[in-house]
Order: sequence, then structure tokens, then C-alpha cells
Amino acid sequence: MSATGIKCIHLVYFSPSGSTEKIVRKIASGIQGPEVKTYNLLPSAARKKQYVFGKDDLVIYGSLSAGMLFTKAEELFGCLQGNETPFIGVVSFGNAYYGVALTEMKERAEGRGFRVCALGAFIAQHTMAPELGAGRPDAKDEAIMVDFGRKAYEKILAGDYTLHKQPVTHWSSSEQYNQIIAFREKNKEPYNFPLEFRAKKISDACIKCKTCVRNCPTDAIDIETKTFNLEACIGCYGCINRCPMHAISVASPEVTEFMKGFIDIFKQERLEPDVFL
Ligand SMILES: Cc1cc2nc3c(=O)[nH]c(=O)nc-3n(C[C@H](O)[C@H](O)[C@H](O)COP(=O)(O)O)c2cc1C
Ligand code: SF4
Ligand code: SF4
Repeated sequence: MSATGIKCIHLVYFSPSGSTEKIVRKIASGIQGPEVKTYNLLPSAARKKQYVFGKDDLVIYGSLSAGMLFTKAEELFGCLQGNETPFIGVVSFGNAYYGVALTEMKERAEGRGFRVCALGAFIAQHTMAPELGAGRPDAKDEAIMVDFGRKAYEKILAGDYTLHKQPVTHWSSSEQYNQIIAFREKNKEPYNFPLEFRAKKISDACIKCKTCVRNCPTDAIDIETKTFNLEACIGCYGCINRCPMHAISVASPEVTEFMKGFIDIFKQERLEPDVFL
């Protein structure tokens, strides 16, 4: 890369309910100058292509966190190839924990030829529990995002690709979640949620607009029969959150009950973004 800068900024995101995309765009707004291109990895067809980046490109990559990178992490990074390409990585999470997601992102990005210059974890509304992180990101978060983008870019322009602060493992201190935590730390493989977390139903309010179908990352929705291919579904909750008629909901009363306990624990404290530069 020449000392004069970056030719193009590539915004790459996997954002089922849309918060991560907004965060990536906000971070990019802190950087003035280069042309900006976007890559929405939500459609399965988008993840079947190969995207190759060079030394004078900058990739800003965002994904939701489930305490680790989301289920399709292997595929999501498999379609990206860097060549000593500067990389800013972010995860969004729902005011509970982002676990090992940033550590995993760093490993995967480096494994695909990227130079990880900055990482950040930002709070957004929890897509399974809107009471958590409600109204986030807010103006205070957005100011941090813009500043983060600006600082990361300044670092890159100065030729400093070193991550001076390493990402931490961020779990909850709640005893109740020790089992989940132990499981996830042991199983670095992408984790798919149990079937009951993926089971959904579609009500008569559905107007067959197909917004859910177009945005389902695994093509798991048959709107004619109002059924879901639960083996294919990765439980991203995008269909529930994007439906303009609020016609899709969780089918299992046990999951709804479980989420109530989860909400009680994690609504107690407002978490703040973590950035690593
Ligand atoms: C299946 C699933 C698991 C999640 N797990 C966590 C979690 O462990 N901790 C957390 O704070 N948020 C968790 N979230 C919330 C999302 O990380 C958060 O709402 C994120 O901002 C959603 O991004 P999106 O709007 O780009 O889809 C989870 C969401 C889903 C759908
Ligand atoms: S987004 Fe909602 S209203 Fe539109 S087709 Fe899907 S379930 Fe029906
Ligand atoms: S059907 Fe499953 S994978 Fe598809 S959008 Fe809904 S939750 Fe996500």
C-alpha cells in the first residue's frame, strides 16, 4: 500500500436483522476520501462467490455475535481472500456478552490473508429479546463508532498495522450461564442453536410480501405453505425482525420462558462498546 492511502473501502457484513450493517456504515462514515463498496453476505448466493482484496484496499467486516461468530462463519470467511489487506473487524451483540467472537474473527481474518488493524464490539438491540439493548446503538454509541473508524484509518495511513490491544474473552459473570460458556469455549466449531430455538410459526397477518424469503440466509422459508426447513434454518431471527406485519414468531413456549430469565439477568446493566486498536 502506498503511503498516500487506500484506494477503496469495502464494507462486508452478515447482518440478519440489520443492526450490524448500520454499525459498519457508521464506522465507515468516520473515514473520508476513498470510494466505498458494499457486500451483503446475507443471501446464500453472495457467499458462493469469491471476493479478492489487495494491499491498497481496506475491508470493514461486521457480523452479529452469538458469544462466538455466527453459525456460517466458515462459509463467511471462506468467500473472502485478502492479500495483506488491512482489516477492521466488528461484532454487534445484544448487551449480554460477545464471548470469543472477536478472537475468532481475528484468527479467521488472518487465516484468509488479512492484516487485522482494529477490532470492536458494539451493543445493538438483542434480536431475540428486544428488551435487551433497546434503543442501541444510540448517539453515544455512534460517536464511539465514528471515532473508532477515524482512529483505525489514521493508524493504517501511518503504516501501523499492529493491534496494540488484543481482544478479550467477554463472558457474563452470571453463574446461570456457566454451562453455555463452557460448551462454547470447548466447541470452537460454529454452533447451531437447538431446534426449539429455530422453530417458528407464521400467523394470518402475513401478506405474502416475501421480505422474509428474500432475506433468509439459508433459503429456509416456504411462504406458500408457511413452513420452515428447520434443518437449514440457522436461527438468525432475521425473518422475525424484518417482517413488516410482525407475522412470524417463536413457536416454542419453552424458548419464550427461557428468554424471560435471560432478559432479567442481562437488562440490569448497560454495557459499553469495547474497541481494540
Ligand atoms: C441466535 C442468536 C444468538 C445470540 N446470542 C447472543 C449472545 O450470546 N449475546 C448477546 O449479547 N447477544 C446475542 N444475540 C444478539 C445479537 O448478537 C444482536 O442482537 C446483534 O446486534 C444482531 O445483529 P443483526 O441486527 O445484524 O442481525 C444473539 C442473537 C441471535 C439471533
Ligand atoms: S415478511 Fe411477513 S408478511 Fe411478508 S411474507 Fe414473510 S411472513 Fe408474510
Ligand atoms: S428461517 Fe431461520 S435462517 Fe431464515 S431468516 Fe428465519 S431464522 Fe434466519
